[in-house]
Amino acid sequence: MNAAPVAPAVFEFLDKTHQDIMAQLVLLSPLVDAIESEGLNAANREKVRRILHYFNTEARQHHLDEEKHIFPALLNSQDEAIVHTTQRLTQDHGWLEENWIQIAPSLDAAANGNLWFDTQELRHAIEVFEALYLDHIMLEESIAYPEAKQRLQAFDGAGMGREMAQRRAKTKAQRPAPKA
Ligand SMILES: [Fe+2]
Ligand SMILES: [Fe+2]
Repeated sequence: MNAAPVAPAVFEFLDKTHQDIMAQLVLLSPLVDAIESEGLNAANREKVRRILHYFNTEARQHHLDEEKHIFPALLNSQDEAIVHTTQRLTQDHGWLEENWIQIAPSLDAAANGNLWFDTQELRHAIEVFEALYLDHIMLEESIAYPEAKQRLQAFDGAGMGREMAQRRAKTKAQRPAPKA
């Protein structure tokens, strides 16, 4: 007997979040270019503020969702390669957080109109962040998610989806309103 499809909405949600993360990532380097050429005008500061907020909230929450709902089943796998990949993905979350902590103070300064940071150093940190994130997402989508879809046959997909949706609704409620 074939297993019923496993909560496809949950994986659609996770895939959509990856698309959102990648859409934010590609904005980072051009924004540093714009800051260098145009300075910290109101438009650039607003763009910085939005990106900063995204990675401080939704991207971090995405990692928590994966660590809570997706990775445990993979870490319990009898397949050593899957366990190893999942350990690497968990470690990546730590590296991404470290990279972000190198980037965020400069963006925070920029959002507040302070240009005390070295744009070359920021550019380099962004390149590292982007490369690791893209590699990480590719590994999740090629190995971890397909494996999790197969393994999580009995999971409470509706409960997971509801929790993620509630968390996202809370984040949206906390999001600063766009400036007029
Ligand atoms: Fe991840
Ligand atoms: Fe992910």
